[in-house]
Amino acid sequence: MSDTPILEILGVGKAFPNVRALADLSFGVRRGEVMAFVGENGAGKSTLLKILAGDYRLDEGTVLLDGQEVSHVDPSQARKAGFRLVRQEPEIVPHVSAAENIYVGELPQKRGVVDFEKLRADAKALLEECGFAGLLDLNASGDSLSPAQRHIVEIARALKPGVKVIAFDEPTSSLTADETQRLFKLVRGLRARGLGVIYVTHRLHEVMAISDRIVILRDGRLVGVTETAATAPDDVVRMMVGRDLSYGFVRQETTRSDAALEVSDLSSRWHRNISFTIRAGEILGFAGLVGAGRTELAKVIFGDLPKRSGEVRVGGIPVNIKSPSDAIRANIGFAPEDRKGEGLILVRSVIENASMAVFSSLSRWGVLRSKMMIDMVSPLIASLEIKTPSLEQEVGKLSGGNQQKVVLARWLAAKPKVLILDEPTRAVDVGAKAEIYRLIDNLAKSGIAIMLISSEMPELLALADRIVVMQGGAISSPIEKLDASEERILSFAIGQHAA
Ligand SMILES: Nc1ncnc2c1ncn2[C@@H]1O[C@H](COP(=O)(O)OP(=O)(O)OP(=O)(O)O)[C@@H](O)[C@H]1O
Ligand SMILES: [Mg+2]
Repeated sequence: MSDTPILEILGVGKAFPNVRALADLSFGVRRGEVMAFVGENGAGKSTLLKILAGDYRLDEGTVLLDGQEVSHVDPSQARKAGFRLVRQEPEIVPHVSAAENIYVGELPQKRGVVDFEKLRADAKALLEECGFAGLLDLNASGDSLSPAQRHIVEIARALKPGVKVIAFDEPTSSLTADETQRLFKLVRGLRARGLGVIYVTHRLHEVMAISDRIVILRDGRLVGVTETAATAPDDVVRMMVGRDLSYGFVRQETTRSDAALEVSDLSSRWHRNISFTIRAGEILGFAGLVGAGRTELAKVIFGDLPKRSGEVRVGGIPVNIKSPSDAIRANIGFAPEDRKGEGLILVRSVIENASMAVFSSLSRWGVLRSKMMIDMVSPLIASLEIKTPSLEQEVGKLSGGNQQKVVLARWLAAKPKVLILDEPTRAVDVGAKAEIYRLIDNLAKSGIAIMLISSEMPELLALADRIVVMQGGAISSPIEKLDASEERILSFAIGQHAA
């Protein structure tokens, strides 16, 4: 490892209307090192990466990449100079193959037409180099790719020749444990090749496992740069949030009440004979590996995907749900994991998005509506610590984690009988996470039945009263809180127990 930085950030600042996103930021990334970026939601991590990628212009400061000034570049100049960003939500062209998606904008040509033979050979070699061969069919059409496969396309795009610094923005949220291990192997390989690697994540265990140094940002400013080996996870958290966090959220035992949601013998394209009950005030956790069918189950119950057979009852009454509006009418709420695709209207304001689920009842009040919306949404914005310059801000302009919190705010406002939460704290920082746990706990205490899908074991163990494990389209019998442990849940998830 050499000490000359391959990337130098010198006094960089950036403001948006009403928001100072970055201020006087200076540090370097060395050749052959993995540098983790951590900071609370809205700290400025993605903004810095977008400046480096040429999406945003910086207001002040200088950026040097391998000695060359790249302070004011457009996306194609940034790429050429050797900076590559692996985005969390990659742009995929729907009706062309995965191979063409990897080479979009730079398809190999032969006598004026696309050289498909070379395209396939190059793409295949690239995938092998990444260690992702076998996980992606290069002929598959863009719109058929899973989130993980889209991510692999995005990684392959970044690794084309000329890469000097590569940045990953929350790369593992759509990856399985196995894919995450492959990604780590790839990252270590890139480090060995002498690249500068930037790794942005809210998952501290990944920071500790993969990084050499850690850059800590708070409110757009540099709090510090530490050597990972000499840093304890608690120190990182303290620097991020500027205070000690009380860990160990534990939900009190609840009294047993009547069934709020009963699902019996539900089958669909993805599931067979699923039955479970969630009582009013209960949190039922759904564990399982990414791809086990939990999100699809949530969508089937919510009427977003078709069921084949089976019955759903809410408060003891059978409901026939054929669409999400049927589900909302039956008092079921659903906060999806894919907030951009299904959760939010990005060009609408924070307040409109947050009050959407109660909009129809509010609209009866005519002119009173907006004041009622404000009264309803303001306290939620405050308690969720949503960082936004105003209630009128477009949701698409909030940081990723803050968008996630707006999805939650909507359902907190709507107070349904049954609430399905799919990965409610994905992309949310550690401080806000504790706050969200308290809110979910309070929702349950107010009598709402909660179906909690989470890939984070500590989250399930802290919040759920009982946990079922989904595997291969079926679920295990519920594990009581007292008997639940990570090992036990994992052994179900990888199919070492019969369901
Ligand atoms: N296009 C934009 N217009 C206006 N404000 C923006 C825009 N992009 C980002 N911001 C604001 O800049 C600040 C930094 O946002 P950024 O996305 O960099 O945060 P982040 O550290 O990546 O957070 P997260 O962990 O939630 O992804 C936030 O207050 C955000 O609302
Ligand atoms: Mg971000």
